[in-house]
Amino acid sequence: MIQKIKGTYDVYGDLSKKHDYVRKLFQAVCESYNYNYIETPLLERSELFHRGVGETTDIVTKETYDFTDRGGRNNTIRPEGTAGIARCILENKLYNNLPLKLWYYGSMYRYERPQKGRYRELRQMGIETYGSHNPIVDAEVISLGYNFLKELGLKNIKVKLNSIGKSETRNKYREALIDYFKGNIDEFCEDCKERLNKNPLRILDCKIDGDKDIVKNAPSILDYLSDEEKEYFNKIKEYLDSLEVEYIVDNRLVRGLDYYTETVFEYVTEKNEFGSIGGGGRYDKLLSSLDGPDIPAIGFAFGFDRVISEIENEEIKLNINEELDCYILTVSENESNFALELANKLRMCGFKIDLDLTGKNMKSQFKEADRYKTKLVMIIGEDEIKNNEVTIRDNITKEETKVSVDNIVDYFDVNL
Ligand code: HAM
Repeated sequence: MIQKIKGTYDVYGDLSKKHDYVRKLFQAVCESYNYNYIETPLLERSELFHRGVGETTDIVTKETYDFTDRGGRNNTIRPEGTAGIARCILENKLYNNLPLKLWYYGSMYRYERPQKGRYRELRQMGIETYGSHNPIVDAEVISLGYNFLKELGLKNIKVKLNSIGKSETRNKYREALIDYFKGNIDEFCEDCKERLNKNPLRILDCKIDGDKDIVKNAPSILDYLSDEEKEYFNKIKEYLDSLEVEYIVDNRLVRGLDYYTETVFEYVTEKNEFGSIGGGGRYDKLLSSLDGPDIPAIGFAFGFDRVISEIENEEIKLNINEELDCYILTVSENESNFALELANKLRMCGFKIDLDLTGKNMKSQFKEADRYKTKLVMIIGEDEIKNNEVTIRDNITKEETKVSVDNIVDYFDVNL
């Protein structure tokens, strides 16, 4: 038997209901902040991620699914959403209408070592906001994600917050880190040895060496921020306080993508079992690094699969509406067509209706009605058709009523 690819999973049954619920809630929250949905292709030119996400990042050096197409071009199956959206904004000149507030959901692909909360096909839902460099926007973006998690019912969530400064600050800080680590670099993992000169900030959040005292005592980026950057960061904190977002400043939070400037943040759970459940930051230079105009932006993405795992860990009961409004039973197949017409009429009025079209006997149809947790059962037989009426049974009280077909929508409006 052919089996699924390592690091992927199927979504069906109860899990699919959870996925559907969480996605719709995210959409509703984004819409309440006036975000519009955007969808970009799964396939992009490899160069986009090399230039956008960064040549030295783990994502680009180790994790992308790259292939040469039949025309000899290098393509990559997207590992994240931000770079593709930036490409779309440039190509379609969407920056002529700022601010842009966009939300998205979709699968991303990273060739990582699969484990709990780490997949090769991962889903992300996120937002991107273009057009302003203002701490109040950073706070609004961070609070959108936080409020969404609260609305889901999650209790153990915190926001980790840091500023990695603009490039000038980061360059000074890089030099300081190289100086600080170079004498002891032999004690570090192979990845960190490579990072020392290419991207020393990543030593700070290395999964292997990150907890060593030498890393914990490393110089803090916050001491390198300019007065202006400090002021910006302090303002974000003030706004977050007033929006009642719980955050912790973590001066070792650097994030794994090269496009970030100044604000970076992650949504983490108390146990932090599978890493952050979401992350993002400001990326004011991404458009210009892709030959576009200089337009500031900020956004984040949730690891959708990790949000689902956290719902399970915290045993959150989602308010999933599984009930049918009505299950229609037919005494014989002679009534199927009449039943289907009625079902369609009610469905067009917004009711959730199902019926058996596979010729099951009445006993099995009653079982089906129970399986779907229906509120009402409608019974249609020869007599009902003759009298242009149906029998409706309340599935809890078991009370039965005859209702004329002409009044059926009114009856549903009043009783459901
Ligand atoms: P990221 O930190 O690479 O950021 O990914 C965002 C989230 O996706 C992570 O916090 C994590 O929850 C989830 N995630 C990442 N890799 C995996 C994996 N292999 N399996 C399961 N979940 C995973 C970005 O992708 C940025 N584009 C976010 C962003 C948007 N920044 C600004 N705008």
